[in-house]
Amino acid sequence: MNRQVLLVARSVTHHGGHDAVHRLAEAVAGALGVPVRGCFLDGAAPSLHTALDAAADADEVVLVPTHLPPDRYLDTWIRRAVAHWRQQHERALRIVVTAPLAGQPALVTAVVAAVAGPLTELAGNPGPFRSPAWSRITRHRRHVLVCRGPRCTAYGADEVAAALADRLAEHRLGDDDVLLTATGCLFPCTLGPLVVVHPDDVWYERVDRSTATRIADEHLRDGRPVDDRPPRG
Ligand code: FES
Repeated sequence: MNRQVLLVARSVTHHGGHDAVHRLAEAVAGALGVPVRGCFLDGAAPSLHTALDAAADADEVVLVPTHLPPDRYLDTWIRRAVAHWRQQHERALRIVVTAPLAGQPALVTAVVAAVAGPLTELAGNPGPFRSPAWSRITRHRRHVLVCRGPRCTAYGADEVAAALADRLAEHRLGDDDVLLTATGCLFPCTLGPLVVVHPDDVWYERVDRSTATRIADEHLRDGRPVDDRPPRG
């Protein structure tokens, strides 16, 4: 049987956290001898949907909810996201899920080993806590919210966020022009992926990569909202 393993994590607010999930996946792949990838339910790439798409030649995918402390939201939403992915794919792929990592007895062993292992004394310098870099409000003309909640992520928000960031970089529009912010659920999930542009209060629904590019070109660079979006209901 061709088995693949996906470590499914929640978003964290720094890229280093995402890299840590991918590094853990590599280490587990080395130990298990099967392909292992990290993926995310929300807020980061690749999404669970993208990772399932990429497991095209697997007979079975084992999902490992990867989050400490335990996250009931992750457990619930993995099931919903997989149900949505199945609805879109005809493949007879077996998808199974493990118990959450937080419930594994080996976790106790790992904590005991950490306490017994090398210890680093923390003699803190409080300076960086209040760095001037974090005291400046950007003078952005527009604030763009890209929903990275679990439904929008399932619908492709990772691609939308990447397309927006790439296009803004091409146009050399930085934080002082357009402040791009990934958010949690903005509520009208069924209309996702959602992109909201303030102060214009324009809500773009069902955004894909090509609409994201148009939003960057027409709205954020040229100041004209993309005009063929569905009326706000
Ligand atoms: S997940 Fe995007 S609006 Fe709810």
